[in-house]
Amino acid sequence: MTTIDLQARIPNNVNLAGNRQLQRALEHWQPAFLRWWDEMGPSDFRVSDVYLRTAVGVDAQGWAQYGYTAMPEYRWGIFLADRQEGRRIGFGDFMGQEAWQEVPGEFRSTFRRLIVTQGDTEPASVEQQRLLGHTAPSLYDLRNLFQVNVEEGRHLWAMVYLLHAHFGRDGREEAEELLARHSGDPDKPRILGTFNEPMDNWLSFFMFTYFTDRDGKFQLKSFAESAFDPLARTCQFMLTEEAHHMFVGETGVGRVIRRTLEVMKELGTDDWQKVRNAGAIDLPTIQKFMNFWFTSSLDLFGSEASSNAANYFSNGIKARPDEGRFADHVEAETTMTLQVPDGQGGVKDETITVRNGINEITRLEYAKDCNIGVTRWNMAVKRAGIPFEFQLPSTRFRRQVGAWAGRPTDPQGRPIAAAEFEARKGDWLPTEADVAFVKSLMQRVTEPGRMAAWIAPPDRGINAQPVEYEYVKL
Ligand SMILES: [Fe+2]
Ligand SMILES: [Fe+2]
Repeated sequence: MTTIDLQARIPNNVNLAGNRQLQRALEHWQPAFLRWWDEMGPSDFRVSDVYLRTAVGVDAQGWAQYGYTAMPEYRWGIFLADRQEGRRIGFGDFMGQEAWQEVPGEFRSTFRRLIVTQGDTEPASVEQQRLLGHTAPSLYDLRNLFQVNVEEGRHLWAMVYLLHAHFGRDGREEAEELLARHSGDPDKPRILGTFNEPMDNWLSFFMFTYFTDRDGKFQLKSFAESAFDPLARTCQFMLTEEAHHMFVGETGVGRVIRRTLEVMKELGTDDWQKVRNAGAIDLPTIQKFMNFWFTSSLDLFGSEASSNAANYFSNGIKARPDEGRFADHVEAETTMTLQVPDGQGGVKDETITVRNGINEITRLEYAKDCNIGVTRWNMAVKRAGIPFEFQLPSTRFRRQVGAWAGRPTDPQGRPIAAAEFEARKGDWLPTEADVAFVKSLMQRVTEPGRMAAWIAPPDRGINAQPVEYEYVKL
């Protein structure tokens, strides 16, 4: 195969043509990936032309080229952000030393496990969203779903590249396993819980892209600081694509809210049953979905106090997001305070080292970032003159990992008895009836520019195209 063919098939800036061994490994993996896409990717849209963005380079012109592509022909490429000559490690015990171009032997299995865990989430979300195309509320949304799907596919490629290029035979085996585990599979599930949750409605999809893709953003930000330079550069580039996924989530939830506000105004009511009868999703139900996906994503950061997280930090593997913004990048002796259950239904303070608290620091940064969208959604509610306010629950609420796992609290984080939680959880989290109602609204709309009744149109189209553009040719 000539260099030009290879570049056309697997666009890359890692000089794949000059590395025969790597090229062979990836060419061997590619058919397995395409089989996986065919079996586990978006069902039934193989022949549709989709108006997609493809990355063919990391510069301003190359990273977002738009055009119609059938998804199986999407060019999944491998891109690392440009190398900074002389880059130094910016945190931990190796701070100030030159960044690593290869993985040091003693950290090899840790890096491999973390790369596999990150890599596993990428195809998992494609699998979760596999059937959503059938109920897309518009062609614009259908296109956005597929854009997210092909980019998660590319993120899998990014992690597989690292495994192939830096982890030898173990890496190649792990790359195959990434296609063998499947979301929700009872025998071989995906590694992390959230990525095995079924996704059968678009409100969940928007919540997932807002809250769970944002967890991805924070993981990538932490890896973007890594002493292992190829990992850092891979994640830096992935972040450019990830931003669009969260945009889909934020504007998606925002449009659902806007439509609901319109219906409430038209009917002059805040009676949720009337809002539902009119085919919109009532605000309390939206809040419940928010509570579910936010808390489910909080668990992805791990335990508040974690010696693993401390080791990752000490050893230059993973930093805090935007490490440069913190004053001390070594945190040798520093401490911080956590609030944990006291075992008697109350709360007590616990002092831990900052290194042990990296997960919690990252989680709180994440929660702050999540609040930015919530504030915007609330502005729309306020402008509509409706006395309602969305609020993210406490990071203690409905946790399944860490100090608060199995310790019931109300959404404000006040410890309560298990019986009270059971009695009230239907007010706080989506009930079966809520989910069934949302699902009942999921009707496919395929006329360009038209929207399903439960969602407002977007403010603008993709890549300066009009909203009425035929984003998917079915
Ligand atoms: Fe991703
Ligand atoms: Fe994503």
